[in-house]
Amino acid sequence: MAAVIALANQKGGVGKTTSTYNLGVALADVEQKVLLLDLDPQGSLTYYSGFEPEELGKTIYHCLVRNTRPQDILLRNDYGVDVLPANIDLSLAEFQLVNAPARERRITRIVNEVRDQYDFVLIDCQPSLGLLTINALAAADEVIIPVSCEFLSIRGTRALLKLIAKVKGSLNSKLQVAGILPTIFDSRTRHGREVLARLAEEFPQIHLFPQAVPRSIRFAESAASQQPIYESKFQVPGAEAYRELARELVRKK
Ligand SMILES: Nc1ncnc2c1ncn2[C@@H]1O[C@H](COP(=O)(O)OP(=O)(O)OP(=O)(O)O)[C@@H](O)[C@H]1O
Ligand SMILES: [Mg+2]
Repeated sequence: MAAVIALANQKGGVGKTTSTYNLGVALADVEQKVLLLDLDPQGSLTYYSGFEPEELGKTIYHCLVRNTRPQDILLRNDYGVDVLPANIDLSLAEFQLVNAPARERRITRIVNEVRDQYDFVLIDCQPSLGLLTINALAAADEVIIPVSCEFLSIRGTRALLKLIAKVKGSLNSKLQVAGILPTIFDSRTRHGREVLARLAEEFPQIHLFPQAVPRSIRFAESAASQQPIYESKFQVPGAEAYRELARELVRKK
């Protein structure tokens, strides 16, 4: 049975999608069966995985709103992971589900249909604390919180932890925070190092993954070329950070 992990942070551009995709491929590389679920209308995870979001007829939107089966939208990518894709249609779902029964548990139901076929299901959340993120948290066993190593990120983390506690109290009592994953880390600046220290200080009860992902322009290049960061042409130390995170998750499972 898969471990379901949501990668969430309402702050934009902190590395949620980059982490979801590269962690997913790293897990597949150590023989894990991996499903990636794109829960962001931007469709960045879908794109990174090798697909053109706006060319897809059916996406996770159809599962959420039209009861399409997840098996009917599933894509398999060239790097060994399966993808439940999203595109801009998903932005309608929050409105269309406003009065739907059990609207916070739609993703749980979708994930339950397929989770016995995987070792890991990773959910890439959109940068908001709205209904889609609540759905992801309701479906997840664990949350990884990517936090970019800049001061403003610390404030957002507090709001997210509050929402996680709420979801835990109402929708999903088994929900755990797997940890904070420091991303876009520049070891050469004092600011980056200070943020790391502050994260440890402010959230002592939360695991801080030891391998901060270094800042590198190669990540943007990797996403633009729809190839994971492990392709030899990228040659970036951040790749090893994701591989180590994958090994840690497998060891813990
Ligand atoms: N370690 C890194 N070093 C440098 N740039 C990075 C790193 N990780 C991600 N990026 C870049 O930062 C930008 C934001 O990353 P990403 O899309 O993964 O963030 P996100 O949290 O998913 O964003 P959103 O909130 O919009 O969904 C992208 O251009 C990405 O290539
Ligand atoms: Mg994203």
